[in-house]
This record gives sequence, structure tokens and C-alpha cells, in this order.
Amino acid sequence: MAHTQRKLNKPKLHNRMKGVILAGGLGTRLHPLTKITNKHLLPVYNKPMILYPLETLKRSGVEEVMIVCGREHAGHFMQFLGSGREFGVKCSYALQDKNNGGIADALRYAEDFSDGGPVAVILGDNIFGQDFKKEVSSFKQGARVFFKEMQDPTRFGVPVFDKGKKQILLIEEKPKAPKSNLAQTGFYLYDNEVFSIVKTLKPSARGELEITDVNNNYLKRKKLTFSVIKGLWSDAGTFESLLNVSNEIAKRSI
Ligand code: DAU
Repeated sequence: MAHTQRKLNKPKLHNRMKGVILAGGLGTRLHPLTKITNKHLLPVYNKPMILYPLETLKRSGVEEVMIVCGREHAGHFMQFLGSGREFGVKCSYALQDKNNGGIADALRYAEDFSDGGPVAVILGDNIFGQDFKKEVSSFKQGARVFFKEMQDPTRFGVPVFDKGKKQILLIEEKPKAPKSNLAQTGFYLYDNEVFSIVKTLKPSARGELEITDVNNNYLKRKKLTFSVIKGLWSDAGTFESLLNVSNEIAKRSI
């Protein structure tokens, strides 16, 4: 009987990949809106921004999600998302002590949560029209990044390719003169080594631990793979991108 009971109680999600939404930072580009609440809770068309990355993870088969947020308005996240049950996921929370410590700094807080396994990481202000179900279920080791073709990718991480345009040599963060027309999106798959890598990083010129440095570390060791996505992708971290992506989603919902 005790044996049967143990079998029944076996956690259903055990072998699934866990997800991390990075929702720290001060959102200064969106002042004064971000004085009222956190950037990731501002509306994108008809729902708070954070629901988009949450739904992207869920649609990708990720149901255990940690939200890493800053201290300002941290309670608003819990008030809105709660246990996650209403949204079909299981949510837990961590606080990033240093505002604007950087994306890679925020990721450090998910180490215990990752429990030695791989993680799907998504930036809290990234809106995707597609899911990553196939990539999540087939992911084994190393890191995988996702690019999107853009006319002017200067605001993003941009890959530099070899002459044959097959191999990435380097990813440059916000280059003034981009060497390709691809932007690094805010969705990443990492094996558990990522948590050792972030501990070795030094702050960049803007004083942050950069996710691009993490990706370049995998790249140097030939453990980085990539895809180019075709569907809708935008960040929502500036007034212009917030407005544009809201309009785009409104158009698609009609
Ligand atoms: O949107 C994709 C781009 O995101 C990539 O192309 C870049 O390589 C990557 O560095 C990042 O660039 P941004 O400058 O746009 O990142 P931003 O500072 O706006 O932060 C994006 C999200 O990351 C933000 O919504 C919350 C999270 N974040 C950011 C910082 C600085 C944290 O959780 N903690 C932080 O300290």
C-alpha cells in the first residue's frame, strides 16, 4: 500500500525543463510609468507584459517557473501571479539584490531552483509569437540561442559570422556597426554549467553582467548552437517598442 502511495505521489513535472523569467532591472527607459509599478506588469495591449513570457514558456512545455525580480514593486508580481495555478504553471520567486546588476546576475538567483538540470531562460520584456516546444524537448547540453532578422539590430546582441556565414565567431553586445542583420532574442536554453559560468563574469562597460558574455563563453568552447526565428518577436522595454508590439498584438487579436 505504502509502495502504491509513493508511486501515486511521484512528482509529475520531474523530468521537464524548468523555466526562469528574468524580470529585474529598474525599467528606467519607461519612466515615469515604472515609478508606479514594475515594467513587466505594464500593459501590452490587453494584458500585463509578464504574461507573454510566461505563456511562451508554458506553450514550450515548461511549467515550473521562477520569476527573478527587483525589490521595487516585488509584491505586485506575487499579487498578480500568485502560485501560478490560475495560469497553469507553478511559480516561485527570487529577488535580485542589485538593481541593474545585469541579466546574467539575475540568472544566478535561479541556481538552487534549477536543481542541477537545464533551464529555459526568457527575458521578462520579450514577446514571441511562437513557442519553443521542439527545441525545449530535444535540448541536451551546451547552450542554444535564437536570432531574428532585423534592419537595425544596434540595440541588441549581434552575431559575427565567418566567411562561409555558417559559424558564429562572436556575439557583440549593442555594436555601433553590426556585422550581421541578426538580433539575439531574449530566449535561451542552457545546461546547468551556466551557473558556473556566471560566477566567472566581470561587469561590462555599462556595469552589468552580460548574458552575451555567457553565450560567448559557450561559443568559445564550441557548445553554442543557434536558430533564426521567423515569427513575431519584440522587446517591450522602450516607449516605441511597447507601443509597436501592443499595436501588432491588437491587430492579430481582431
Ligand atoms: O531583448 C533582447 C536583448 O536583451 C538582447 O539582444 C541583448 O543581447 C541583451 O543584453 C538584452 O538587452 P537589453 O539592453 O534590451 O536588456 P535590458 O537591460 O532591457 O533587460 C532586459 C530584461 O532583462 C529586463 O526586462 C529584465 C531583465 N533584467 C535586466 C537587468 C539589467 C534583469 O532581470 N536584471 C537586470 O539587472
